[in-house]
Amino acid sequence: MARKPIESFAEAQRFAQRRMPGPIYRALISGNEKGETMRRNPEAFGQIGWLPRVARETPEEQPLVRELETTSLGMKLSMPVMVGPAGAQAIRPEAEVAVAHAAREAGTAIGLSSFATKPMEEVAAANPNWLYQLYWTGTRDDILYRIERAKKAGAKALIVTLDATGGGLGRRDWGSPPIPSRIDLQSVLKFAPMALSRPQWLAKYLANGQIPDLTVPNSANGPGDAPMFGQVYAELMSTPVPTWNDVRWLREQWDGPFVVKGLYRGEEAKRAVDIGADAIVVSNHGGNNLDSTYPSIRVLPAVARAVNGQAEVWFDGGIRRGMDVAKALALGADIVLLGRLWIFGLAAGGQQGVEDMLNMVRDGLHWSLVGLGHRSFKDLNEDDITAPDGFFLDPDTKSRLESLELRT
Ligand SMILES: Cc1cc2nc3c(=O)[nH]c(=O)nc-3n(C[C@H](O)[C@H](O)[C@H](O)COP(=O)(O)O)c2cc1C
Repeated sequence: MARKPIESFAEAQRFAQRRMPGPIYRALISGNEKGETMRRNPEAFGQIGWLPRVARETPEEQPLVRELETTSLGMKLSMPVMVGPAGAQAIRPEAEVAVAHAAREAGTAIGLSSFATKPMEEVAAANPNWLYQLYWTGTRDDILYRIERAKKAGAKALIVTLDATGGGLGRRDWGSPPIPSRIDLQSVLKFAPMALSRPQWLAKYLANGQIPDLTVPNSANGPGDAPMFGQVYAELMSTPVPTWNDVRWLREQWDGPFVVKGLYRGEEAKRAVDIGADAIVVSNHGGNNLDSTYPSIRVLPAVARAVNGQAEVWFDGGIRRGMDVAKALALGADIVLLGRLWIFGLAAGGQQGVEDMLNMVRDGLHWSLVGLGHRSFKDLNEDDITAPDGFFLDPDTKSRLESLELRT
């Protein structure tokens, strides 16, 4: 009998909860403090409604297959969606290599986190369309070593994430996962009951001849260095947030496409573009950083207007289905990044689970276009959308956005 694909995020989340040891599942839920932003990001999409027009004048305007292909930073993609960078530890032994394969199967790219578990060279071999995501940790020499390695391994772009300021690990109302600083006999004994509670999860690792080791090879500061997650996380929290001068310096060191992730205001997005960013990512880290930040979708139109076509506008936060992608595209995004969608897909079903999530997104985007009477995703626009009065905000002026508030 043919395998039944995982058909929704909710289903992936249920499977993940059943299959992952409790502390790992809770780490994947992620979020910070009360989890307000994490919860409200996806909820905000429910407040955005469509105003469809179904039928058009000619068959050419309403073909059976709607246009989803696009190009971003020189990469040909089958849809305006990429796998976003996330350091998700101990889900599966194949980890980001499986995600890279899934992204390649789906004709798209993968953002690889500096907190990922698989070395960039292995991910590059699985999917040439990969981007290296950097956190500002350590010295400039350390950073140079990492980006030169990424260049050599063929990264198609460098993403620098600025919004990792909140010390997310250790302040969660639902409890923070215990993370051993290194794997030794003591931690193996401590975590053994957790591992044994999900024997199939453990068996996958043992079949691969390994135990989850929590190293972050893409944050190494030299050959042979294999730092532990906890060590690099502590370093991140003790390194000052980069200044705009640091970001400019980083841009000068990297001769390929440059992406600045974690921006929330048009004014900061323009600053990144002036420094030479080819794309900016409107994001609040999926609620995994400064809790109570308003949903990123509510500021997307304002930031997109500020950027005004000078760079690509990428978006993430709360995407749980293809229709959410369509809404973000209608509100000014060029590319939409997936976060928890692929993380829970991986936890629920490995490479196949991530492929299911990518197919689900493609399908939902396609049917949104059909329902709205658009030939191409490029036809999506603000006219398709309605939302409650005052929903869309401009953080630079703290005002409502004029044109979008009228159609409520
Ligand atoms: C478990 C987890 C780990 C993450 N790790 C990173 C990371 O290493 N680098 C980064 O730039 N963003 C990271 N993010 C943020 C995601 O790239 C993205 O901004 C966020 O997940 C989008 O929100 P969504 O999950 O609601 O789609 C992480 C998010 C989660 C949930």
